[in-house]
Amino acid sequence: MKNLVVAIDGPAGAGKSTVAQLAAKKLGCTYIDTGAMYRAVAWKALQQGQPVTDELIVEIARDIQVVLRYIDGKTTVAVDGVDVTGEIRTPEVTAIVSQVAALGPVRTKMVDLQRQMAESGSVLMDGRDIATSVLPDANVKIFLTASIEERARRRYREMQAKGYAVELEELQADIAARDKADSERKISPLVQAPDAELLDTSCMSIDEAVQAVIDRCNSEKRR
Ligand code: DC
Repeated sequence: MKNLVVAIDGPAGAGKSTVAQLAAKKLGCTYIDTGAMYRAVAWKALQQGQPVTDELIVEIARDIQVVLRYIDGKTTVAVDGVDVTGEIRTPEVTAIVSQVAALGPVRTKMVDLQRQMAESGSVLMDGRDIATSVLPDANVKIFLTASIEERARRRYREMQAKGYAVELEELQADIAARDKADSERKISPLVQAPDAELLDTSCMSIDEAVQAVIDRCNSEKRR
């Protein structure tokens, strides 16, 4: 079959990257985590030791070199040659990433890069605007979500495992604020594409969600 192109979108904390990474490995696709690219820009903006203004972010995005590598089912992220895979997941980066992702010049540069990466063969890309904007011709489009309570619980367990002292209520409020910012921004807001299939993972295990994605891709391959 020709290359398989899979687009997975959905709100914060829905488990997209966990599910997408595992499904990509089983399907033999390259996984492209587009959220990591906006996080990379946010991380570099924080390194400047200045107030993070829109102007600073746009200036940084102009020259930044972001490289995603997907090897053996794991993604690494490098900014200007430095591995920042862990650093882009801190609460400080998360707090400003919606601001970064709302800026037109940043999105233009990242979307160009994402489309270039998608030319390399079979890919599974996740984000907020993949089915609607980055890869509108994807063979499979999935909108992966879960209830806000469940998403907050998952993020809570993840942050605790990393050793961060967090409050569940605070996390839920942060996620709700990020969903609002991502869904209401002017450029490429988070929205389910009309031709995307809804996958609500609130009551699913990771394995079940991965299997649901694979089943959907296999039925596409058989067409
Ligand atoms: O999925 P994530 O939490 O790593 O995404 C980080 C932020 O980037 C999130 O606030 C939404 C934004 N984003 C986006 O606007 N478009 C994408 N394709 C991917 C992420």
